[in-house]
Amino acid sequence: MNTPALQVTSLAIAYTDTEGEHLDVVSGLSFSVVPGQLCCIAGRSGSGKTSVARVLVGLTAPAGGTVTWGGVDLSTLTEVERSDQRRKITGYVDQEATLIPGLTVLDNILLPAIPDGRDAARRAKNKAAEDLRRLGLERRRKWSPARLSGGERQRVALARALTANTPAIVVDEPTASLDRRWADTVIDLLLEHADAGGIVVAASHDPTLARASHTVITLDDASE
Ligand SMILES: Nc1ncnc2c1ncn2[C@@H]1O[C@H](COP(=O)(O)OP(=O)(O)O)[C@@H](O)[C@H]1O
Ligand SMILES: [Mg+2]
Repeated sequence: MNTPALQVTSLAIAYTDTEGEHLDVVSGLSFSVVPGQLCCIAGRSGSGKTSVARVLVGLTAPAGGTVTWGGVDLSTLTEVERSDQRRKITGYVDQEATLIPGLTVLDNILLPAIPDGRDAARRAKNKAAEDLRRLGLERRRKWSPARLSGGERQRVALARALTANTPAIVVDEPTASLDRRWADTVIDLLLEHADAGGIVVAASHDPTLARASHTVITLDDASE
């Protein structure tokens, strides 16, 4: 796996709310993640974990600082290049585990491979079967996302990222809706992805996930 290293330098994230109030969520955050590592972005609710995850995959622009993957600064890419990078290099699982409502579980998982042609689709089918099995979802293959529980949806969204097999995966609260057994399975899968030479960045308040990670970046609570 040709995984680009992640370098975050002097990152600042800020919002202006509807009343015009300025909120500095993150400032001066620097860290790096190399291939083979599972990195946990930890911190209390509201500390900015989701905000950092979104900036790492280029969904939102930071107020300051840089995010580079393999030396390429996300801010130098066009919108289209950033979205291409999410599909091919830095997969993303959002905190809501969003799925496409009109597609079955399996088709949601196979969707990212479609632009890459028939061989990629065949590989994805084999990998999807394995990921669905590991995540206990074989019997949900043909279900519509609306029928899934929150925990099932979360596991499907992770299966989609694993099947896409991007070198890096940024995943937001991957264990939040899961009981301990499935949370531990998810942590094992994230570690396997790192062990295979990938990078996993997990925004999470799960102490078990933090303990299993190679590096932990703890965000300060801006409200304190
Ligand atoms: N789009 C936004 N506009 C304004 N404030 C936001 C926005 N997104 C997040 N925030 C605020 O930024 C802080 C960090 O949020 P978030 O990144 O979701 O933290 P966490 O994931 O650690 O719970 C919170 O105070 C939240 O209300
Ligand atoms: Mg969050």
